[in-house]
Amino acid sequence: MARPLVAEIDLAALRHNYQLALDCSPAGTAVAVIKANAYGHGAIAVAAALADLAPAFAVACIEEADELVAAGIRQPILLLEGFFTADELPRILRHGYEIVLHSGWQLEQLAAFLAGLQVTDAVLNIWLKVDTGMHRLGFAVEEAAMVYRRLQTLPAIGKITLTSHLACADDLSSGTTPAQLQRLQALQQELDCPLSLANSPAIMGWPAARQGWLRPGIMLYGASPLGAEQAQSGQLQPVMRLRSELISVRWLPAGEAVGYGARFVTQRPTRIGVVACGYGDGYPRHAREGTPVLVNGVRCRLAGRVSMDMLTVDLSACPDAQVGDEVELWGAELPVNEVAEHCDTISYTLLTGLLPRVPRRYLQMDVQKVTDGRLEQVEAAMPR
Ligand SMILES: Cc1ncc(COP(=O)(O)O)c(C=O)c1O
Repeated sequence: MARPLVAEIDLAALRHNYQLALDCSPAGTAVAVIKANAYGHGAIAVAAALADLAPAFAVACIEEADELVAAGIRQPILLLEGFFTADELPRILRHGYEIVLHSGWQLEQLAAFLAGLQVTDAVLNIWLKVDTGMHRLGFAVEEAAMVYRRLQTLPAIGKITLTSHLACADDLSSGTTPAQLQRLQALQQELDCPLSLANSPAIMGWPAARQGWLRPGIMLYGASPLGAEQAQSGQLQPVMRLRSELISVRWLPAGEAVGYGARFVTQRPTRIGVVACGYGDGYPRHAREGTPVLVNGVRCRLAGRVSMDMLTVDLSACPDAQVGDEVELWGAELPVNEVAEHCDTISYTLLTGLLPRVPRRYLQMDVQKVTDGRLEQVEAAMPR
């Protein structure tokens, strides 16, 4: 019998969530953000599952893009941080990757590279990143028009899209988002070009930001970046279910400590279950005492420190639980956001932090056909 820990990935739920994002786009354009191995869900499988819906994918770097191309993905791929070194540029051009251009050093290296090109019919689409207030990446608002016009003078440059990233879109009372939107819109009107601003919280919570190309990430995976009370949050369907089983159950009398550091001490006779899942799988070691864990669908409490391959739960709420019974660490019945709160973090880190040793099991799609690089054979339509 194999270790029971597995991440079940519901690709039909993924498609449902992408469609929700798309429905928010007046222009009908949403680039699916599948960086960091599609937030831990498996970039190739996710791209394959969205191949007939999403007109483009976004990743963090050329290595992530190359992996998709090698697997047979044919959509345009956007590199969200552009290139890191100029030697990526020939490959970028060859594969038709689109790049974010965020800094002066990139502009100079790009200009030098393009100037050295022999005649080429290759076209490089640029997403010109503007720092509208987040102060992480992007050209200053005041210099963006100049950079735009310089780009227009370079050979092989195709479409230029103005883009920016929002710092506070998950805070629906913040004045930062309207201010950032206003700065980007003013530039767009001056330059008369397409734009892209909205990430998941903006798509879900800021209708005014739903312009041009949307860039949904976390919402595709069914985790809301906004509070559960937001209308759209309830429409998202969780894509990943991290499930395992009890591999041991024991009774302990009152006053006995459980696990490393003896953090949890029984207050009364208590049944303790051991679950095959630990920080060596990506489950956070700093999960607090009482973090919810579902055993046979019943909410139980984490009891004691998470170890590398196992964690322990207080089975008081589920007194009949036995070895082999099913455990959900997060999923449809236990939102990853709720677990994240108990770990003082966000769903993004739990999902992207799931380590490779956890097998991903794809529902609604033949994973062999996805992973062996023959996407042509994948059935794209997956009715629920
Ligand atoms: C530039 C950019 N756009 C879009 C996204 C997607 O964000 P989210 O997952 O919040 O939708 C990210 C993710 O970090 C990003 O860096």
